[in-house]
Amino acid sequence: MNDMTATARGLALRADGSLRHLLGLEGLPRAMLERLLERSQHYSRPLGAPPARGNALEGVTVATLFTEPSTRTRVSFELAAQRLGADVASVEVQLSSRLKGESMLDTVHTLESLHVDVFVLRDAQADVPELVARNVAPHVSVLSGGAGSAAHPTQGLLDALTILQHKGRIAGLSIAIVGDVRHSRVARSAWHAFAALGATDIRIVAPPALMPERGEFAGCARSTQLADGIAGCDVVMMLRIQKERMAEASIPGAGEYFAEWGLTPVRLKSARPEAIVMHPQPMNRGIEIASEVADGPQSVIRDQVRNGVAVRMAVLEAVIDGRPLPPARSGASAADVAAWLRAGATR
Ligand code: CP
Repeated sequence: MNDMTATARGLALRADGSLRHLLGLEGLPRAMLERLLERSQHYSRPLGAPPARGNALEGVTVATLFTEPSTRTRVSFELAAQRLGADVASVEVQLSSRLKGESMLDTVHTLESLHVDVFVLRDAQADVPELVARNVAPHVSVLSGGAGSAAHPTQGLLDALTILQHKGRIAGLSIAIVGDVRHSRVARSAWHAFAALGATDIRIVAPPALMPERGEFAGCARSTQLADGIAGCDVVMMLRIQKERMAEASIPGAGEYFAEWGLTPVRLKSARPEAIVMHPQPMNRGIEIASEVADGPQSVIRDQVRNGVAVRMAVLEAVIDGRPLPPARSGASAADVAAWLRAGATR
């Protein structure tokens, strides 16, 4: 499974090369990824400093429409949009007319009629953001907030930004992506980001049952042993076990998984002493990672979260920057309506 189909790649860019939809990272020009990361760093602030603000989204309406749970992605997209001056509509799917049988496209077209310009979508079905992108008006953009096991593009960007902030480069680093790679949209988007930005030693480290299909993650080394897989690495990216994407019978027991695959302080010693530890969260402490590592000196997990807002500001700014503006007003004026009413009253 790739993070974006060829059709989605075609949809992503406008004829002038500007970013219209962000459905995945695969195939996006390196220069575009670099520009997004530069703008993300522009919007990045240390904790305790006032957050960055701007007016790039004044007059724009952003709707978040998530049919799978989220804390970080949803909140950071909404904060990013607000801090750039947008109106934000957060659609509670459990309280929306989707529950009365309304289709996703009818919901989207309804929101379009309410002047939504940017949709941020999360769905268990990998093709939903692309389906919506193919059916919105020309001035509307669709951003994936996570689609099945296929793509989580803003997570891939914030992971790249976090590595750049700590290591100053991505090219030349040894990066291990560890755990349930098979079901992970984070792993797929991170791989595309890291490879596009010049990483050549990217390792997929997973138990055999959680390895992606052969043919996926082309160019990555594979290991089914944690210590071997992370040996000498600069970056150890741990992944959550995606229980919601597995049959009950194939979910590994927590204790048994931690015994072999949990990242403990002792196991982390196989990586370089200055290696950083990442995790997209939510974390299963005591299953894929020990609390001593998650909260330890090598962990940059909180920086990943902090970078989420900056990256999402950069992406929102990029899609709005290049959009064609629809006509300011549709058809009739208020004076026309007043005249129709008067004419009707005299009939
Ligand atoms: N990393 C991530 O996607 O977190 P959420 O599920 O909380 O959005």
